[in-house]
Amino acid sequence: MQNNNNLYITTPIYYVNDVAHIGHAYTTIIADMLARYGRLIGKDTYFLTGTDEHGQKIAHSAEARGKTPKEYADEVSGKFKTLWDDFDITYDKFIRTTDEAHKKGVQNAFEKMHKKGDIYKGSYEGFYCVSCETFFTQKQLVDEEFCPDCGKPTSIVKEESYFFKLSAYEDKLLDWYKNNPDCILPRSKKNEIVNFVEGGLRDLSISRTSFDWGVKLPASMNEPKHVMYVWLDALMNYITALGYGDDEKDMNQWPAGFHLVGKDILRFHAIYWPAFLMSLDLPLPTHIAAHGWWTRDGSKMSKSKGNVVDPKEIADAYGLDAFRYFMLREVPFGQDGDFSQKALVDRINSDLGNDLGNLLNRIIGMSGKYFDFKIDSSNVEKFHQKELDEVNVILEGAEKLIFNMQINKYLEELWKVLTIANKAIGDYEPWVKMKEGKTEEAMALVALITNIMAKVSLLLDSVLPEKISKIASSLGISINTETYIKLIKNKELIGNTTITKIDPLFPRIEEILLDTPEVKEEKPKEKKVEIKKEVEDDNLITIDQFFETSLKIGTIVEAEEVPKSKKLLKLQVDLGEGKNRQILAGIKEFYSAVDLVGTQACVVANLKPAKLMGMISEGMLLASKDEDGLCLIRPEKPKKIGTKIS
Ligand code: MSP
Repeated sequence: MQNNNNLYITTPIYYVNDVAHIGHAYTTIIADMLARYGRLIGKDTYFLTGTDEHGQKIAHSAEARGKTPKEYADEVSGKFKTLWDDFDITYDKFIRTTDEAHKKGVQNAFEKMHKKGDIYKGSYEGFYCVSCETFFTQKQLVDEEFCPDCGKPTSIVKEESYFFKLSAYEDKLLDWYKNNPDCILPRSKKNEIVNFVEGGLRDLSISRTSFDWGVKLPASMNEPKHVMYVWLDALMNYITALGYGDDEKDMNQWPAGFHLVGKDILRFHAIYWPAFLMSLDLPLPTHIAAHGWWTRDGSKMSKSKGNVVDPKEIADAYGLDAFRYFMLREVPFGQDGDFSQKALVDRINSDLGNDLGNLLNRIIGMSGKYFDFKIDSSNVEKFHQKELDEVNVILEGAEKLIFNMQINKYLEELWKVLTIANKAIGDYEPWVKMKEGKTEEAMALVALITNIMAKVSLLLDSVLPEKISKIASSLGISINTETYIKLIKNKELIGNTTITKIDPLFPRIEEILLDTPEVKEEKPKEKKVEIKKEVEDDNLITIDQFFETSLKIGTIVEAEEVPKSKKLLKLQVDLGEGKNRQILAGIKEFYSAVDLVGTQACVVANLKPAKLMGMISEGMLLASKDEDGLCLIRPEKPKKIGTKIS
């Protein structure tokens, strides 16, 4: 069933509780790059993306918006799909975990694992982080309350549950890691996984009964109250997309060549997923590749800070190709990266404008001025074998960097080749050759750089598809497997071609700010500046946004310590509503419960209730913390209970 020429690439399926941000775009762009590259080199490529739509987190988000989970999932999943279509992402399938075929496939997988004896019924007692959809023991929590991964409060879960015998796969997993050095990339991340598994695996709870937004257990189990754990449901998408457990026509694509994931979800992919596959007697993926996280201007992105990078806004402002290039070039795969507009603008002006764009301008300029745009490659080897050899050696080595996920290095190598071309122009001065009547030599040089540009274009097409298609039509070449084999594999030259003049591909961005009125008339450039400004100002809020938060004066009428919690006090606060609010405040280290009773505080009164340590909290007190400790923000003089703060 396996075919060595297959290349199956997946992104994580994205939760539909939020709109797409730069982190989602990053994984999807890497996957798209690999898929485009795979197709170019003639691999039988299949690229999967989609949305993860079940679980408590989605159910809560839908409820908060007054929608059914399915209505909400339809809406957000549609937004992801539209974004990827706008971004020209070349996925072969967009899967949704609410697809009937997926649900059927997951149920069949569950049944098979159960029949094999890998699933048993028990009862679960522990802590659950809804945001990460992950189970924890109390020991794993931070301050015995908070999720060690995302820092949010966890809730206590005690329910009947089916378990997967993960512990039975410990040794098999360790063997797999050992015998497949690159099964987890980068290798440094693999060590973390190996250490984790060596520490011992506990069986995994894989069904829930306390809510119902999930895939039901197979009918044969006769357990109508149970829905599947969302990670079991989600991971199975990688095979149900190929028809597993239903119409298995695409299962010959399996196993995956690359599962691309963020570092935060590596554990699910590198431990649970291969164990499930072993249980199903299916081959394991070739690579699970984990990338780092993006921050913005040095800080973590979050909705509350208002600093989340909207990929569409950036791509609209600076161009999709430039955005793709920046993401792939700026950060070594696996490391965290920082997004700043300055870094993006620098990359556009320097790498794309100076090195790539200018080289094309020079080809257009010289071929037009000296040879009426006609290029003849017949003397390139005679005069420039040295440069050709250098270029071919670099390009030969570059290819393996892609499949080792060293994409930024791959791009560095291609840029070395562009440097060879730019340098050759200075070294051989074709304008001097023309003056001296050495036309043949001048033609050989212009043909050399045209050929270099053609080779680099082939290898850059997966990164800059829109711009490379323009460069290719300017050079008179086609970007396809046939040309790839000719110019890259067989190291041949393009022969004769005619250059077509095109506008500069990457005009300098500073020019937009400083340039003369004629240049400012170029509409697309002006648009870029306007959007850039908006992007820079998006940390500011309007007065209306401020008033979306309802702040009120309240009096603390009761206060007590929360048992087992180092941080929490449980307060009853009177906001003049006829009924006190219960507020759990993380201030125990700074205030004693008795001292608080009868005092006033400023309360965020329209905060969505949340559960902390299994108790409901219906608001938040304003406080300020520095190195001297924490103090509550209170009115200077007593105020009437419920008074608005503005
Ligand atoms: N639904 C699960 C995946 C299931 S796959 C079987 C999920 N979804 S997610 O929408 O929360 O996250 C998807 C991806 O976005 C993850 O790979 C995560 O690492 C990535 N990112 C989220 N924020 C990120 C950054 N700030 N930077 C880079 N990627 C980050 O997890």
